[in-house]
Amino acid sequence: MYVCLCNGITDKAIKKAVENGCDSLADLRKQMDVADQCGKCRKHAVEVIQQSKILA
Ligand code: FES
Repeated sequence: MYVCLCNGITDKAIKKAVENGCDSLADLRKQMDVADQCGKCRKHAVEVIQQSKILA
């Protein structure tokens, strides 16, 4: 499922980043351009990061 439509970033891509050590939105944004345009995905991206950390 797409989290960030502006940049075509999926929940799978975010989960993979968390598996590789990303643990915050700031961290994630070093690796991909999530939430850098309209910003509507910001809250959902944070939720996916948190859920992925719980499941990791
Ligand atoms: Fe992510 Fe617009 S949907 S910046």
